[in-house]
Amino acid sequence: MDRRSFLATGAMSSAAVISAAATAAATDAAAPRTRARSRAWQIGNPPSIGNLQLITRETPRPIRGEVLVRVVASSINARDRGIVGGFFPIGALKAAIPLSEGAGEIVELGADVSGVKLGDRVTSCHFPAWVDGRWDPAVYERDIGNTLDGWLTEYAVLPASGLVVLPEVISYESAATLASSGVTAWHALFEIARLRPGQTVLTLGTGGVSTIGLQLAKAAGARVVVTSSRDEKLARMRELGADLTVNYRKDAAWGTRVADMTGGGVDVVLENVGRPTLDESMNACAPGACIIMIGTGPMPKELPKMPGLYQKNLLLKAISNGSRRMFADLLAAMAAARLEPVIDKTFTFSEAIAAFREMEAGDHIGKILIKHA
Ligand SMILES: NC(=O)c1ccc[n+]([C@@H]2O[C@H](COP(=O)([O-])OP(=O)(O)OC[C@H]3O[C@@H](n4cnc5c(N)ncnc54)[C@H](OP(=O)(O)O)[C@@H]3O)[C@@H](O)[C@H]2O)c1
Repeated sequence: MDRRSFLATGAMSSAAVISAAATAAATDAAAPRTRARSRAWQIGNPPSIGNLQLITRETPRPIRGEVLVRVVASSINARDRGIVGGFFPIGALKAAIPLSEGAGEIVELGADVSGVKLGDRVTSCHFPAWVDGRWDPAVYERDIGNTLDGWLTEYAVLPASGLVVLPEVISYESAATLASSGVTAWHALFEIARLRPGQTVLTLGTGGVSTIGLQLAKAAGARVVVTSSRDEKLARMRELGADLTVNYRKDAAWGTRVADMTGGGVDVVLENVGRPTLDESMNACAPGACIIMIGTGPMPKELPKMPGLYQKNLLLKAISNGSRRMFADLLAAMAAARLEPVIDKTFTFSEAIAAFREMEAGDHIGKILIKHA
């Protein structure tokens, strides 16, 4: 949508709610005081899915280094469920508005913003302070949807430092699903494991990280093994390109089974569950394999015994999402490969509670999308 038609659209969810002066130029001291109103979902008190509150508020104004984005779509991650439910361990509910993933159009610039302009189609990494380079836990101080307000709003104020402009062929809907699960899978496969064609990847489950992990690994020429609790989900993963599948409910020793099926084990594991499945993941590994710890699943009753850690010289590496540079690389690769993330179900903005309930039910494969406009 260009700026003129954006300004011409109707009431609450349009830029007509913001003054033309404010959208026409970077915000300055002369900008009008009165802002039109728009809708946002707020984390409830006490926090729970059922307690999410749909509010109408004055559309926020971007300050120095920020932009205002008209949100087109957003998406839910496992962590967002924890944040909305009040059980995510980091951040202590500093954000009022949830969701770490989304995409939209820049409709207003704060002062001193460079590298983007009005009308740009953008998304953002959820750690906007992690532009490139090594991980620093301090980036959690500015974590979109956790310690900073997130995407579950008609208009989001976002730090310009985390923005990535969308390649032309990437839709808002696709881009809105990638900041957490996509960037994490990219980081694991290509920054840590340095995946090469012909290698074998094991990815656990059929959720957001696993499904985009399957798609990226296949696009890179890898053989991919997927585990799931449900045969029908495994059938869908085979349609998406999985070479081998195992139902972990039916086969408790699924790791050994994966090693047998692959003729000696896998080279890379996307450990999307965490410590509860680590031992079986290790049983699935070939010598020299790399296990990337992504899932933050609960502590198991017994500590992992880590079979084969020394004997097979396994590499165990935890990661936390990824940098803005990684996100730009991911989008460029997806554009080149014409890759579209798997969106299982789509909800409207008003149906956000139902979208969270769907995530909670765990029936989805890939992603659950919320369309704002
Ligand atoms: N470290 C990071 O930066 C990072 C980034 C993103 C996400 N995460 C974490 O990664 C995990 C997955 O996130 P997500 O967004 O992909 O969640 P999701 O969409 O809710 O998917 C979770 C999946 O886990 C699978 N699962 C559960 N128990 C399993 C088991 N014992 N064995 C194999 N699979 C099992 C389920 O697969 P089936 O239904 O097919 O059985 C389910 O589809 C979460 O713990 C999340 O917090 C971490």
